[in-house]
Amino acid sequence: MKGAILAGGTGSRLYPLTKIINKHLLPVGHVPMICHAIEKLRAAKIDDILMIIGKHSAGLFTELLGSGQELGVRLTYKIQEESGGIAQALSLAQSFISPGEKFVVLLGDNLFEDSLISYAQAFQEQKEGARVLLKKVHDPQRYGVPVIKENKIVSIEEKPANPKSDYCVTGIYMYDSGVFDVIRTIKPSARGELEITDVNNVYASGERLAYDILNGWWTDAGTFNSLYYASGRLLDGERK
Ligand code: G1P
Repeated sequence: MKGAILAGGTGSRLYPLTKIINKHLLPVGHVPMICHAIEKLRAAKIDDILMIIGKHSAGLFTELLGSGQELGVRLTYKIQEESGGIAQALSLAQSFISPGEKFVVLLGDNLFEDSLISYAQAFQEQKEGARVLLKKVHDPQRYGVPVIKENKIVSIEEKPANPKSDYCVTGIYMYDSGVFDVIRTIKPSARGELEITDVNNVYASGERLAYDILNGWWTDAGTFNSLYYASGRLLDGERK
């Protein structure tokens, strides 16, 4: 399987750090944030990776990562011109993914402990559709929240005021190449973006959205608190 890492966005919640550098290049633990996502894919033997980045800091990404050789992966880069949302960024992966091929998508600001090996394996064995990874959180209203009935995700609500479960849909997604057709059917949300939750809801409504629940710690790193938390967890892990 191939992988795609989404590392665009403005990082507005981390301003002014993100005034001069893209969020995904900020330090987390001993390395820039983006290196963790690449390593998670590499460790799951997903070494053909598309990096979707913004124009801001594009030169710094290539200076840091180059072809990926030093990190044991092959990197291809695509630039997302506008900030049109996660699903719009994902649509740029179409020419990288062959028809019928499956792939793993990571949001570059998601940091986590679990290995992706068993989840990627389960998706390989899955007949069709998509797969998401969930994590129990204390503040689900900040995230996409699954509505689960009889062990099936029937829908996902994006940042609901009254969450129907205490799980969040993490930024670890697995799709078949049909996802590009799905993206073409969705409309921009109230904030003017193509939402990944709307894409996942198309799969959920067709009972084609499988899931696993992460065992280890997980966090995004889009705010000062979560960035600090992620650094702490990674430094602890490296000390062990
Ligand atoms: C995005 C998704 C959300 C998901 C989260 C995970 O939110 O829209 O469904 O739970 O990533 O990190 P954002 O961080 O863009 O607000």
